[in-house]
Amino acid sequence: MTTNNKELIVKKIENGTVIDHIPADKVFSVVRILGLDNVCDEILIGTNLESKKYGKKGIVKATNKFFAKEEIDKLSIIAPTATLITIKNYEVTDKRKMEIPNEIQKIVRCINPNCITNVEEMDTTFSVVEKHPLTIQCHYCEKTMTDIKIKE
Ligand code: CTP
Ligand code: ZN
Repeated sequence: MTTNNKELIVKKIENGTVIDHIPADKVFSVVRILGLDNVCDEILIGTNLESKKYGKKGIVKATNKFFAKEEIDKLSIIAPTATLITIKNYEVTDKRKMEIPNEIQKIVRCINPNCITNVEEMDTTFSVVEKHPLTIQCHYCEKTMTDIKIKE
């Protein structure tokens, strides 16, 4: 960390991923859902930071972590405003906004307790009916939901 009398600036990372513009109330869900509460590499977490665009935002810097599609899909569901920034050798090599997929596989649980995916503990499939607010429909029981439960 670099510091002067008025500022404490979180240091840059050498290699890894920065997740910026996370809704302030979703920072710790992001950390948990991406399993970052359980790694040995350095993780920097900021929440309730000032943001011109979003009021308050959160940021997570995960050293030596590069996320797979399934993890990025989870992130797009809990933090659709997030920006995913790839850092290699201190340089930004990729910066992308979240994209909600048209179909969501495996990562979400159906809220219908009688759905076959809950009874038989099967993989789930949902189609995205609406992106804002995110509304999805279960492929098996056809239940539509906006209260989305991510499998951890
Ligand atoms: N970052 C980092 N380590 C690096 C490079 C960048 O932690 N080696 C972080 C920066 O702190 C910033 C984010 O990655 O939070 C994006 O970096 P950059 O594009 O350089 O910053 P800005 O131009 O401020 O980005 P934006 O305008 O999108 O906020
Ligand atoms: Zn269902």
